[in-house]
Amino acid sequence: MKELSAIASQVKASTTLELDALYKQMKADGVDVIGFAAGEPDFATPEHIKYAGISAIVNNDTKYTPAAGTIQLRKAVCQRLKEDMGLDYEPANIICSSGAKHCLYLALKALINPGDEVIVVEPAWVTYNEIVRMVEGVPVSVLTRETDDFMLTPEELEAAITPKTKCIMLNNPSNPTGMLYYKEELEALAEVCVKHDLYIISDEIYCNLLYDGLKFTSMASLGEEVKKRTILINGVSKSYAMTGWRIGYLAASKEIISVVAKYLSHSTGNPSAPAQAAALAALTGPQECVEEMRKAFEERRNYMVYRMNTIPGVSCLKPEGAFYVMMNITALLGKVIHGKLINNADDFGEVFLKEGLVCIVPCTGFGDPHFLRWSYATSMENIKEGLDRLERFLAE
Ligand SMILES: Cc1ncc(COP(=O)(O)O)c(C=O)c1O
Repeated sequence: MKELSAIASQVKASTTLELDALYKQMKADGVDVIGFAAGEPDFATPEHIKYAGISAIVNNDTKYTPAAGTIQLRKAVCQRLKEDMGLDYEPANIICSSGAKHCLYLALKALINPGDEVIVVEPAWVTYNEIVRMVEGVPVSVLTRETDDFMLTPEELEAAITPKTKCIMLNNPSNPTGMLYYKEELEALAEVCVKHDLYIISDEIYCNLLYDGLKFTSMASLGEEVKKRTILINGVSKSYAMTGWRIGYLAASKEIISVVAKYLSHSTGNPSAPAQAAALAALTGPQECVEEMRKAFEERRNYMVYRMNTIPGVSCLKPEGAFYVMMNITALLGKVIHGKLINNADDFGEVFLKEGLVCIVPCTGFGDPHFLRWSYATSMENIKEGLDRLERFLAE
């Protein structure tokens, strides 16, 4: 038989999903293991959103919709972007699709020719490098350091740019670091992008999950020159606990939208109609649920960061957004723990899962083998038990 596509064959499986699958298998086998790998809120989708989805089905709102999403949903996206970020977009600037992940893929499809370089700020969500490769682009990583709060500087960005650079992918606040770019920091990066005529794929999926009273600045709000180069990515998954509904959106110039819309119309077509109705209820309905979940995440973050920094051998920064903590294990490298020599985060992750019965994500796949990512999108009870286990595991 002839070979499969070389491009498709080279795509690596998402390490976060693999680990989560292993954890679920252990759990199904009756092992008392606690998982901190999954990047999804543990809350149920709020009731009024669920009922909007149910009534859409009951009322036969189950047909094809425009490929870019219903006009009502696109209007609702514009309204949220206006109210929350001060952005002016029309429905013709919006595409609603099957999750923010798919929107990222569509954005790259619209921009990238084979061999174009895409700057990926690492540690980065594992999907970034893979989707760049899937569109035949070349990911160029720029590794940020914990000592710089994992923030990309304009100088580092400038140094990574070549004549082949087409765009940068920036996740703010970041999965996995939890760090937030403030307005001035974004302005400095945007200036470099405008100077070099780069597009900016601004993944703002965690924009509602900020702590310590911090306020979010959208990349597209930094003036017309920046806005016209920005493809804003967002969705309902993280803000409204709607990961399984699969609705994300993309806001960009009409030129970009028309290219994306054509791709969409010949590939997935519209996202699920009942899910669009539920997303409409999420975006236009009461927003208190978002704040309630945010508060719970903030409490969990405070506890996790405090506890982690009292345990000898590991440490972490205090993240400002999203729901992840990066645990630094540099002090443990070269040591033998529970019979295993720890050379990197993968070694630690494996032995901690098997012997400590806690599943966390080695950041090797995110670009830095000195760290493992804990997600605090799980109950406080689990967080306390997980950290108790870490303490015992390292003390034994
Ligand atoms: C940085 C980032 N962007 C996008 C997504 C995907 O969101 P969605 O569920 O809407 O596809 C995730 C999910 O983990 C994420 O961490």
